[in-house]
Amino acid sequence: MHVYALVLLILTLPFAQTCKADGKTYKDGEEWEPNAQFVMNCTIDGKTGWHTNIVACLTETKKRVKVNETITEGESEYTCASGPTGGAYLKIKTKVAVDTTQG
Ligand SMILES: *[C@@H]1O[C@H](CO)[C@@H](O)[C@H](O)[C@H]1NC(C)=O
Ligand SMILES: *[C@@H]1O[C@H](CO)[C@@H](O)[C@H](O)[C@H]1NC(C)=O
Repeated sequence: MHVYALVLLILTLPFAQTCKADGKTYKDGEEWEPNAQFVMNCTIDGKTGWHTNIVACLTETKKRVKVNETITEGESEYTCASGPTGGAYLKIKTKVAVDTTQG
């Protein structure tokens, strides 16, 4: 019984403890940038297995904007909005100096 349990553990560990994305494997809690726009992480859940999350969006200057957060950089406001499918996108709102007194 003990031997059986041990063998099973050794066999399943390498599969259960990594996330796989884009042909690479990542450890629990590890973060990576799949492209210049996002930061993702790996969450290992004992019950449901592994999943990847979008942690933050990246601005052009590589600043991190967490999901649902808005930061202001220079004249622009960056919001990392999450979509219904678990994806996220960066919304950029640039303040344009408009003289509203002339309208
Ligand atoms: C991964 O990121 C998500 C979303 O920000 C967070 O809720 C989760 O705790 C993170 N997982 C790990 C293992 O750090
Ligand atoms: C971001 O906000 C949306 C809408 O309010 C919500 O459904 C989602 O769970 C939030 N995501 C995070 C990571 O807080």
